[in-house]
Amino acid sequence: MSAKILPIKIYPDKILRQKAAKINRLDKKIQRLILDMGKTMLAKEGAGLAAPQVGESIRLIVVNTKNGVLAMINPKITRRSWSKEPGEEGCLSLPDIIGQVKRSKKIKVIYYNEDNKQIKLSAAGLFARVIQHEVDHLNGVLFIDYLKKKGLPAKFREQTLR
Ligand code: CO
Repeated sequence: MSAKILPIKIYPDKILRQKAAKINRLDKKIQRLILDMGKTMLAKEGAGLAAPQVGESIRLIVVNTKNGVLAMINPKITRRSWSKEPGEEGCLSLPDIIGQVKRSKKIKVIYYNEDNKQIKLSAAGLFARVIQHEVDHLNGVLFIDYLKKKGLPAKFREQTLR
């Protein structure tokens, strides 16, 4: 069966605020979800996509890289550089808003790939930004949480955490 484009959960859908569960078994369902999420991200021209955005509250993200779709299972950011930089972000779950978010310039991340192999990766710049944004989704954090509430349209204001 070929991969399919999945519907995106849009803010303020509650799943976007849940802490996603760790994946304990890399079964057929997860393999299928990785393919579907990859196809969905490319079709919607997203820089990345997290499983809660397609209704699955589990710790899985995909990132759009120049080498193709990179899937990260149970990703954990182990180091974040003290040095941060602002950059423009948007989100497929927040279709009407973009904002400047300060993120660490460099990070280290550990995750499992589709072959259940543990990978350690260093990332910088936009790549590091996208990983930080997507890992935030797994913890119920959205990029609007980093923006000044005053500048946000009313419909985004009430549910921001900080
Ligand atoms: Co997002």
